[in-house]
Amino acid sequence: MSRILLLNGPNLGILGKREPEIYGTATLSDIEAAVAAEVAGRGWKLAAYQHESEGELIHTIQDNYDTVGAIVNPGALMIAGWSLRDALASYPAPFIEVHLSNVWARESFRHESVLAPLATGLIAGLGAFGYQLAARALLERIPA
Ligand code: DQA
Repeated sequence: MSRILLLNGPNLGILGKREPEIYGTATLSDIEAAVAAEVAGRGWKLAAYQHESEGELIHTIQDNYDTVGAIVNPGALMIAGWSLRDALASYPAPFIEVHLSNVWARESFRHESVLAPLATGLIAGLGAFGYQLAARALLERIPA
């Protein structure tokens, strides 16, 4: 059965209680359940991981080359996560970068993503719904 990878970086495991005025009230479990439901129609399974450190995220990518696509919210690693960027460069399937908040409407240090040039697309500012949209985009991109 095909699997899709959902990868969340540092500080995203506490969604729901992390600055809800910025990131919303959905928990990471809520988001994972919504993405799993989104891809279930195609018969895909979800492989969901959240790690606080870049090294663990890299290991997870390397261990999941057999997934058909990925949704990645790198958190602040978007800014200077060069090793994460290199790991995604070797990831063999398409990935969509997601940010809950509109990072370009926030502090200027959040305006650069070292991952974005490798991504098939990027969704920002649509809250938890952005993950579902990313799942739909992968469903549309990846042949059945
Ligand atoms: C974030 C935006 C990042 O700037 C921030 O460091 C995060 C969350 C988002 O989903 O909006 O951790 O990736």
